[in-house]
Amino acid sequence: MAEIGQDIFKCKEILEKGGLVAIPTETVYGLAANALNPDAVAKIFKAKNRPSFDPLIVHTDSLEKLKSFTTSLPLDFELLLRKFSPGPLTLLLPKRESISDLVTSGLPRVAVRIPNHDLSLSLLKSIDFPLAAPSANPFGYISPTTAEHVNKQLGDKIDYILDGGPCSVGLESTIIGYEGEQITVYRKGGLAIEQIESVVGTVDVLDYSSSNPAAPGMLKSHYAPNKEVLLLPVGNTINFRERCGILRYSEFSMDVEKGSQFVLTEKKDLIEAAQNLFKGLRHLDGLDIDTIYLELVPDEGIGRAINDRLKRAAAVV
Ligand code: TXA
Ligand code: MG
Repeated sequence: MAEIGQDIFKCKEILEKGGLVAIPTETVYGLAANALNPDAVAKIFKAKNRPSFDPLIVHTDSLEKLKSFTTSLPLDFELLLRKFSPGPLTLLLPKRESISDLVTSGLPRVAVRIPNHDLSLSLLKSIDFPLAAPSANPFGYISPTTAEHVNKQLGDKIDYILDGGPCSVGLESTIIGYEGEQITVYRKGGLAIEQIESVVGTVDVLDYSSSNPAAPGMLKSHYAPNKEVLLLPVGNTINFRERCGILRYSEFSMDVEKGSQFVLTEKKDLIEAAQNLFKGLRHLDGLDIDTIYLELVPDEGIGRAINDRLKRAAAVV
């Protein structure tokens, strides 16, 4: 198991030596290494068992530093950054030479974001390199929203876990980039599409099922628990299987034992539902059951990103 604490100086030392540190962000915990050190970045892929074709997001703490990783920042993106950063927004931008091909998996764009968490921002300010960080989970499994989640699954592969408490958003960042002239959402996430559109007008949204060569990591089977996962048909009653559990939006079902259910938000608050989503999936995955049913949530605001994750969790590999 890794050491867990709040020692930023220790994180800085480990990262400067090319080690791995799990960091808290407002979205999910990240598994961080010096983005300018290919040996350090290679350790991330190894620890997560992540294929090298799946590129990493580069994290930094200021607009000025972010600009130094790209050859150009379109005006609309600068407006979005000014409005929503630090925050759950990742931009795909043409990369500068300094960012290694290992980070971008050889793609011409680099993904960058400024996470909104005090501890990680302090850490990023204290170092003179950006941090490459995917979510701190084994490849294909549910993202971690607490230090304990990270420790359980990757604790023996990480030098230190910076504990920033439970993540306030609970879903990964929204990823956007340009397809030609059109701003496109590649991954729905913690920043609602409506909020982005309020600044830049209508955007294109790639669905979870789209074949999406620009973002090779967005496989349908992501976020999957280890049990069989099925989507509940909307409004339909079904014959539930034996030994099953359900992830529900706001109220318990009468059809399944209460102890095998997880309700995301009794007060029908989508923000709270997002905060509890991965915790709920983990909880159900840990029960002595064979099947997990998932109920979709209202498809608006951050609910669209929650439904995206539910559909991916239920997708058959
Ligand atoms: O909220 C988040 O974004 C979290 C926290 C830790 O910042 N990070 C995260 O990273 O979710 P990860 O690696 O689990 O997901 C990043 C996604 C992957 O699906 C990857 O394919 C895509 O971003 N991506 C990264 N760099 C890219 C690039 N240069 N071009 C296209 N897609 C990219
Ligand atoms: Mg991930």
